[in-house]
Amino acid sequence: MDFNSENIKETHLILGYLAIIIFYMEARMLKPSRWLYISSMAAGASLVLTLILAPQFTSNVLAADQASFKYTGAGSCSAAKCHGSASDKRSGATLTNEYTVWASKDKHNSAFKILFENEAKDILKKYDGGTDPSKSDKCLTCHTTGDATRYNMGLDYVAYKDKSFQGPKFDVEGGVSCESCHGPAEKWIQDHSKEGWTDEMRAKYKTSKALFAATGLWDTKEIMMRADNCVSCHLRIDSKMIDAGHPTLGFELAFYSNEMPPHWKDKDAWFTGTAWVAGQAATLREALDQLADYAGKGAGGDLITEAADRARTNALLLRHGLPSAADTLNKLAADIAAAGGDKGKLTAVAKAGTASIAGWTDSINGMKFDEDKTFALVQKLFSDQDLAAIGYGAFQQQYNSIDSVYGTYAASAENAKEAGMEAVDGILDQMGKKVLDADEYTDKEKAIAKQLIQELSKAGKTLK
Ligand code: HEC
Ligand code: HEC
Ligand code: HEC
Repeated sequence: MDFNSENIKETHLILGYLAIIIFYMEARMLKPSRWLYISSMAAGASLVLTLILAPQFTSNVLAADQASFKYTGAGSCSAAKCHGSASDKRSGATLTNEYTVWASKDKHNSAFKILFENEAKDILKKYDGGTDPSKSDKCLTCHTTGDATRYNMGLDYVAYKDKSFQGPKFDVEGGVSCESCHGPAEKWIQDHSKEGWTDEMRAKYKTSKALFAATGLWDTKEIMMRADNCVSCHLRIDSKMIDAGHPTLGFELAFYSNEMPPHWKDKDAWFTGTAWVAGQAATLREALDQLADYAGKGAGGDLITEAADRARTNALLLRHGLPSAADTLNKLAADIAAAGGDKGKLTAVAKAGTASIAGWTDSINGMKFDEDKTFALVQKLFSDQDLAAIGYGAFQQQYNSIDSVYGTYAASAENAKEAGMEAVDGILDQMGKKVLDADEYTDKEKAIAKQLIQELSKAGKTLK
């Protein structure tokens, strides 16, 4: 007979039941013999061991054949000396107040709570007739922690449905918490608090994917890994869900990172450029997947147009950050536009586009921006006339991109340039008020957007 966790568990259970019978017999006889006494104590201990150890045995055995990591819960990160101090008291790689920032300022913390609101109930009701979003997998997958399948790394369990993947402090009510972005912590929670451990592991496993496969730690330092994780919740969504009233999803990594707000400090002052490019690449890939999906599954015409516009927007934006791929990206945007409503053509173009992006990952991860490169990107974003013409969503993405990349530039460049910046800030302010605050993006708004972009382009030239 094979001695595995299952029959260890069985043996302990049989001994445990024996203990209960013996205790019962002893209580009836009221005269315990020494043998019965000793054996019942041993068996009782065995039952206790079974109850405590069985879950561990099971998961360790699972880990050997199939990757699996438990989610330990945000409560296991909240100690003041770890990540729950009241203010930034940097210690090594950590600011020590990450939990505090997340719990008090980050909307991810309320991602589960909003499922009790009427807006959420209405969406689920229209979607599949369900009445309780806080219990529906359709919502929980993005609105709480524990769906291991979101990493797209071969983990096929969902912890909030399967208790054997929940650590003692796992809490579905915590919403999108630490392990949604940093990976299930069972195997790394102890070790990662030793200074230098994470860097040692990065060196040992060489790639972030191998590090994840061995430990469950999702390396947010690798920018494409970071972007992939955010977009797994922030972009691609079932078209039926949008029809049912879910807000449409749009994402730009640098802008959304600032909005969170960040509970970290990127060491490189010019990192926003890299983050922006990575976010555009991941967003373009998701937008193309979504376009292929919608076109293939016969989603409504409006949704397909919206998905096509989004993919075009991302392709046109990304060309400014990846000049070497600009021709491919321009062609991709043109092909999508030319396909019109032809679902077969759209699917084919989208699939070809996705294949190109996979080849750019390494060069994006290795990208380094500096003041000059950031400025060059700012100018290209300022002067892009094609986006405002696509539509509101495209204009918004352009604005968000300018806001983050120019924001970084303005914060770090020398004061001497301030005079020129005032003019630019004034135009950005008008963009926000006149166009982004408009209820509808009609031809009038489109014309204003176009004019503001022209002014921005001119003002940008005086900056340097
Ligand atoms: C693919 C992931 C995903 C799924 C599935 C999903 N959501 Fe969302 N949901 C999001 C994201 C991301 C946001 C935030 C969007 C933003 O602000 O950019 C959001 C926002 C919302 C909002 C608006 C929140 C606010 O603060 O105003 C509601 C309400 C909502 N979702 C309800 C639901 C319900 C109900 C379901 C299930 C029927 C569901 N969601 C399924 C990702 C998802
Ligand atoms: C929505 C995603 C998200 C959530 C939720 C989240 N983080 Fe982060 N976290 C990030 C990103 C992105 C970074 C920046 C990448 C980096 O520098 O590693 C980061 C950075 C950090 C860092 C600095 C790491 C380093 O080596 O510099 C710590 C520590 C950290 N997070 C802890 C936490 C804790 C604790 C929680 C829960 C209370 C949490 N995070 C929740 C995304 C998230
Ligand atoms: C597990 C799914 C998930 C992941 C991963 C995730 N988010 Fe979110 N995010 C959500 C949901 C759901 C909401 C809506 C919460 C709400 O409105 O209560 C949200 C909201 C936000 C918001 C607030 C938007 C607003 O309307 O105010 C920002 C900013 C944000 N996320 C940034 C990020 C970034 C940056 C990353 C990656 C580092 C990330 N998210 C990763 C699910 C996720």
